[in-house]
Amino acid sequence: MAFQNIALKGYNRASHWQLVFQMEKLPLFVANLEAALKLTNSPLSIVDYGCSEGFNSMQFFNKSLELLRKTSQRPVSILHTDLPKNNWTEFFNVLNNPHNNYLTKGNVTYSALGRSFYEDILLPESVHVGFSAFAFHYLSKEPIRKPGDTGIFHSAYVEQGRQDMETLLNKRINELVPGGTLMIIVGARTEQLNTKMGRLYFEPLSNLIKMGVISQEDFSAFGMTTYAFTLSEWQTLLKKLENKVKVIELKMEKSICPFYLEYLKDKDIEVYKDELMKFVAQMMKVQVNTFINRTQEEKDKILEMLKTEIKNLIHSDPSEVYMEFTTLVLEKLK
Ligand SMILES: C[S@@+](CC[C@H](N)C(=O)[O-])C[C@H]1O[C@@H](n2cnc3c(N)ncnc32)[C@H](O)[C@@H]1O
Repeated sequence: MAFQNIALKGYNRASHWQLVFQMEKLPLFVANLEAALKLTNSPLSIVDYGCSEGFNSMQFFNKSLELLRKTSQRPVSILHTDLPKNNWTEFFNVLNNPHNNYLTKGNVTYSALGRSFYEDILLPESVHVGFSAFAFHYLSKEPIRKPGDTGIFHSAYVEQGRQDMETLLNKRINELVPGGTLMIIVGARTEQLNTKMGRLYFEPLSNLIKMGVISQEDFSAFGMTTYAFTLSEWQTLLKKLENKVKVIELKMEKSICPFYLEYLKDKDIEVYKDELMKFVAQMMKVQVNTFINRTQEEKDKILEMLKTEIKNLIHSDPSEVYMEFTTLVLEKLK
């Protein structure tokens, strides 16, 4: 299951925006840890679903434990999960670097597990606190487009996205102890189209089509590997789950690109272009590697050309860049 591929190699170097956003959610997560202390006298079992190369997870859990340790020395185990083909070498390098990891916080052990989160990962009722940042919007498989159903948001894609999130939440709820919590951060979709981000994403591709580097045929196979819920989609899904969980938080919010905010202060367009380009290129890398049918060498060449196009576009239009994210916290009913 899962149609992710090796494309997230290099994620640690291109995911500062995600880190900035998840660090803002620390108080919410620490409240979940503190609530879990009241559920048991045993060590706390925490799971991080979709850890990737681990740098952001280390920052997040390091700070969370620092805050928890102000009030409790309760032993904690943290399990990091991702796909078997995740870049685990980089993950363990990060984890074993004392400057990054949380092991110095005391009474804490870690483990890591390579298995799709579309499978059952843990025993039922064994997790006190679940966490997942920027991962549960990845689809389980490529939606098969119905004949004549054109466009990026075709009906099979929408159905797949909705069905996948329901599957994921049910599996995670099953793994939680009664009273345990799950916090997830995922991409969001609002009524207002995010035209700037859309432009940064599609215009470079369109330029490469004009140059004859990507064919129309290549592009017609293009799809999305992630699906972002609207608020009303969340409300419909959460209604279905109301006999299993209580909603502690459901918040959709705008996150202004941190590199853009730095650019407003420093006026250093080169740094801004570079940082934002790395963020956009990392997303494009997944799409190019998944949907374009070429040799790896050709795909890498296409990616390099896309990077140049993205930078040119940022240079020509230094207006605000933002994304929308959803934070959801669920508590399993006792
Ligand atoms: C954008 S990264 C998020 C990394 C990190 N949590 C963060 O916040 O920066 C998404 C991760 O989800 C993982 N992922 C995607 N589909 C998955 C699946 N079916 N099972 C497990 N992990 C998956 C990818 O491999 C990737 O490492």
